[in-house]
Amino acid sequence: MTGPEICQDLDALQRRGATLETLLRRAVELLHQSNPRFHWTGIYELFPDNYLRLGPFIGAPTDHVFIAVGQGVCGTAVAERRNINVPDVRKAENYLACSTATRSELVVLIRQGDTIHAQIDIDSHDLDAFDPASVRLVEQVAQWLAGAYAAFQGPVPQPPKAVPR
Ligand code: SME
Repeated sequence: MTGPEICQDLDALQRRGATLETLLRRAVELLHQSNPRFHWTGIYELFPDNYLRLGPFIGAPTDHVFIAVGQGVCGTAVAERRNINVPDVRKAENYLACSTATRSELVVLIRQGDTIHAQIDIDSHDLDAFDPASVRLVEQVAQWLAGAYAAFQGPVPQPPKAVPR
């Protein structure tokens, strides 16, 4: 599937009333299936305590369920507010190993303006697996998910007003 096709699928799911959790899970599935070089595909969500927490993923289980902002490739992407494409993880000083088979990694932020909601993290066993077309596809899905986060957050609920007697 292409990026726009994945976004159309997610649109249809959202119209049928899917929760954000379901949409995230579906996005991970479709991303993972979109490219045979994607060997581990997951979403880390950013929490107010400045920790990333692992959400849905496909691939080998990882010890890195919580990652502090600034740690590893994932935490560095948030700290530096940018997407990161690592062609050879063996040369990345800040890399946190998930699997010894991983050779390259891509992190794309799910953000709207200044607000970072989460990130898509993809590992490949191939060196330099993320060419411009595959990065673009992941960016398209990340952009769609940023819109979903905004839609689900909605207005902040207010406490009920006291009724004057
Ligand atoms: N490699 C990541 C850790 C997450 S695992 O790849 C799933 C990092 O350096 O932040």
